[in-house]
Order: sequence, then structure tokens, then C-alpha cells
Amino acid sequence: MHPLDRLLRVILPLGGLAVLGMVVLVGWTTQPNRYVEGYAPEQPIPFSHKVHAGDNQIPCLYCHGGADKSRIAGVPSLELCMNCHQVTRTSTDNILNLTELYQSGQPIFWERVHNLPDHVFFDHRPHVKAGIACQVCHGEVEKMEVLRQSMSLRMGNCLDCHRNMHDYIRKAEYRKDVKPDLVGAENCFACHR
Ligand code: HEC
Ligand code: HEC
Ligand code: HEC
Ligand code: HEC
Ligand code: HEC
Repeated sequence: MHPLDRLLRVILPLGGLAVLGMVVLVGWTTQPNRYVEGYAPEQPIPFSHKVHAGDNQIPCLYCHGGADKSRIAGVPSLELCMNCHQVTRTSTDNILNLTELYQSGQPIFWERVHNLPDHVFFDHRPHVKAGIACQVCHGEVEKMEVLRQSMSLRMGNCLDCHRNMHDYIRKAEYRKDVKPDLVGAENCFACHR
């Protein structure tokens, strides 16, 4: 092969591929956590949704009472935990830590799992009132020992459901009670205000 031929046919394409590969790799590994499905940070007290929402069937809204009343679902305060843990399982290491933290009067800082960028407006109310089960977006929380993100927080994912909620929800196991003819907003201002 002529050296120039070789350059054009082999080295340049391979070099191009290598550069492309690097770009994809760097982009993938440095993307913000909020986009990553499966993101499951370690929490200050190992709190299990499986034990509470699954085995003991405590309703989601008992601890996340904001979900049908405000933009934010809210994460419970230590007072709420202590309603039960002053009497339940009081002597395990984790509950002793919890009690100590509660008595010290300091707030607990749960690691945020889901986190949309600031320029996006999300409100739990219209979704919960439309009858969309928490699990459609958050996955089978009641089976999770450690809570993880199961929804993509990309704009395309929001729009997929806003355009055609029924196709979207059919893919999910939880689809009871959804109002049949609802569509979500597609105008930019609904989510960017
Ligand atoms: C006994 C209280 C309790 C119950 C019941 C409960 N949760 Fe939670 N939830 C928490 C606590 C505490 C956290 C923060 C620690 C963590 O992420 O594990 C949390 C975190 C979450 C998060 C992640 C928040 C974030 O940072 O993005 C979601 C989503 C969630 N819960 C959904 C649910 C759903 C859905 C149910 C019902 C199936 C439910 N929870 C039942 C206490 C509860
Ligand atoms: C409605 C009652 C109730 C509430 C509220 C509640 N828990 Fe629990 N929790 C339980 C029960 C019941 C168990 C024990 C389950 C079992 O082992 O059978 C438990 C177990 C635990 C355990 C495991 C204990 C161990 O080491 O075996 C931890 C940690 C825990 N809870 C933390 C929390 C935190 C943090 C909160 C507040 C966000 C909370 N719980 C709110 C009822 C509750
Ligand atoms: C249509 C999808 C959708 C449904 C349905 C939904 N969520 Fe969420 N949830 C989200 C998104 C998106 C975020 C991230 C919001 C942000 O970062 O501003 C979030 C965040 C959260 C958080 C952490 C931030 C906060 O608002 O406190 C909790 C806790 C939570 N959801 C619980 C619930 C519970 C409980 C239900 C059911 C009653 C529920 N969600 C239903 C999409 C949903
Ligand atoms: C599973 C389906 C589903 C997903 C996923 C979903 N939405 Fe929605 N959303 C809806 C439906 C249905 C409505 C309309 C409810 C109504 O009109 O009562 C809605 C309404 C809204 C509204 C209120 C619009 C208004 O006119 O006030 C906002 C804001 C919104 N969604 C933002 C988001 C964002 C941001 C995401 C992605 C992070 C998202 N939604 C993901 C189904 C969904
Ligand atoms: C249903 C909610 C929703 C609607 C409607 C919506 N967006 Fe978004 N948008 C999002 C979310 C969520 C993100 C953040 C995640 C992402 O970048 O994919 C986002 C991100 C963006 C970004 C930043 C992208 C980046 O890489 O940082 C731009 C620009 C944008 N949207 C423009 C628009 C325009 C223009 C419209 C109207 C045609 C629109 N959006 C309608 C939810 C929405």
C-alpha cells in the first residue's frame, strides 16, 4: 500500500474513532448524577424503604405528606421517625444513633437522590392528583433497601409522558386510577418559568 493510502484508509479513521471514543467516555463518566438512573447515594442512617413501605406497609404519604399538597413531596423530620422509634426497635445501633441525633436537636441531612436543574419547574400536585402512582416515576420503592433513582430526569422523558401518558404508563406495572384523557403541557413555559 502507498504510505498516503495507508494514512487515509487506516490511520485517519482509527484516529477518528479513538477521539470519538474518548469524547463519549469522558461525557458519560462526567455527566451530572442527576441524570443517572440508578443513582443511590449512601444515607446518614441506613433507611430502608423495603422495611417501612414494603414489609410494614406504611403509606408513602405518611412520610411524604407534601406530595399531594405542595410542589415538594418532602422528606420526614426526625420527630416523625421517633413517633415509632421511641417504642419500636429502640436498642439496635441504628436506632440508638437515630435517637442520639434526635436528642441533640440537630437536623438530619438526607442525601438528595433526585435533583432537577434549577431552571426546571416540577410540581408533584398535578401528577399525584392525576392518579399517577409514585411508582410510575420512582420505581418499586417498596422493594428498595436503598433508594435509587429509577426515572430519567431528561427533558425527553418528561415530554414522552406529557405527549402520551397512556403509552408511557402502559410500560409501568402501576397504572390504576389514571384519569383517561389527560395530557401534560408541552409549552416551554410550563416547565421553564
Ligand atoms: C417511614 C417513612 C417513609 C415512608 C413510609 C416512605 N418514605 Fe420515601 N423517604 C423516606 C426518607 C427518610 C427518605 C430519605 C432517605 C432515603 O433517600 O432513603 C426518603 C426518600 C424518598 C425518595 C427520594 C428523595 C430524593 O432525595 O430524591 C423517594 C422518591 C421516596 N422516598 C419515595 C417514597 C415512596 C414512593 C414511598 C411509598 C412506596 C415512600 N417513599 C415511603 C421516608 C419514607
Ligand atoms: C410507623 C412507624 C415507623 C416510622 C414512622 C418509622 N419507622 Fe423505622 N421501623 C419501623 C419498624 C416496625 C421497624 C422494624 C422492622 C422489623 O425489623 O421488623 C423499623 C426499622 C427501622 C430501622 C432498622 C432498625 C434495625 O437496626 O433493625 C431503621 C434504621 C429505621 N427504622 C429508621 C427509621 C427512620 C430514619 C425513620 C424516619 C424517617 C423511621 N424509621 C420511621 C417503624 C417505623
Ligand atoms: C410524574 C412523575 C412523578 C410522580 C408521579 C411522583 N414523583 Fe416524586 N419526584 C419526581 C421528580 C421529577 C422529582 C425531582 C424533583 C426536583 O428535583 O425538583 C421528584 C422528587 C421526589 C422527592 C424528593 C424531593 C421532594 O420533592 O421532596 C420525594 C421525597 C418524592 N419525589 C416522593 C414522591 C412520592 C411519595 C410520590 C407519590 C405520592 C411521588 N414522588 C410521585 C417525579 C415524580
Ligand atoms: C407519567 C407521566 C408524566 C411524567 C413522567 C411527567 N409528567 Fe408532568 N404531567 C403529567 C400529566 C398527565 C400532567 C397534567 C395534569 C393535569 O392537567 O391535571 C402533567 C403536568 C405537569 C405540569 C403542570 C403544567 C401546568 O400547566 O401547570 C408540570 C410543570 C409538569 N407536568 C412538569 C413535569 C416535568 C418537569 C417532568 C419530568 C421531570 C414531568 N412533568 C414528568 C404527566 C407526567
Ligand atoms: C415537561 C417539561 C418540559 C417542557 C414542556 C420543556 N422542557 Fe426543557 N427541560 C426540561 C427538563 C427536565 C430539562 C433538564 C434535563 C435536560 O437537560 O434534559 C430541560 C432542559 C432544557 C434545556 C437545557 C438543556 C441542557 O443541556 O442544559 C433547554 C435549552 C430547554 N430545556 C428548552 C426547552 C424549550 C425551548 C422548550 C419548549 C419547546 C422546553 N424546554 C419544554 C423539561 C421541559
